Amino acid sequence: MERDGLELRGLRPADLRRLSKLHGLLRSGAKLNVWRLLLFCVAGRKLILVAENATAGIIAFEMFYFRKDESASGIIHEAFIGVHPDFRNRGISKSLRTHSSKSYFSSGIRGISTNISRENVASLASALCAGFTIQDHTSTHEKLSLFLGNPSLDDDA
Ligand SMILES: CC(C)(COP(=O)(O)OP(=O)(O)OC[C@H]1O[C@@H](n2cnc3c(N)ncnc32)[C@H](O)[C@@H]1OP(=O)(O)O)[C@@H](O)C(=O)NCCC(=O)NCCS
Repeated sequence: MERDGLELRGLRPADLRRLSKLHGLLRSGAKLNVWRLLLFCVAGRKLILVAENATAGIIAFEMFYFRKDESASGIIHEAFIGVHPDFRNRGISKSLRTHSSKSYFSSGIRGISTNISRENVASLASALCAGFTIQDHTSTHEKLSLFLGNPSLDDDA
């Protein structure tokens, strides 16, 4: 999908170098280990949504995986979403979350879960804007989910 000069698409093996760099920038230098790189090489197209800007390249991504306790119920877990600091507050994370949910729901996934630190106001606001609702919480995190059939998915995000 292309919108405002931004293409949203699944990760390609050729994107791995740029993804690793952006991942490190957004996660305090954390590196993607070799197993993750191998997994993303094979299944990145389905597990990682990237936002590519025509001039700057990949500037945001959203990563997913299946959790043992959720996969049988058709739920996939959003592990991380991040937008390059130069491109924040332009609705990019909201677009990623809206796009990935529509695309997963059209391929048979029933719901998406995510855990967000209560202090992460920006990520909480973006998830709520994309239709997620708070289901539960721990002492530090909110547990949110979005299920197929949520009326907000009919909105043009
Ligand atoms: C969290 C993050 C992904 C948000 O990305 P973003 O593209 O800047 O967010 P958006 O522009 O899509 O914002 C979506 C909504 O959240 C709101 N929002 C964004 N930042 C906000 C903030 N700091 N405080 C309050 N609301 C905020 C926006 O106003 C928007 O609401 P609106 O549509 O009603 O105007 C980005 O800040 C980031 O990459 N942070 C570092 C990594 C991180 O913390 N990831 C999340 C881990 S769970």
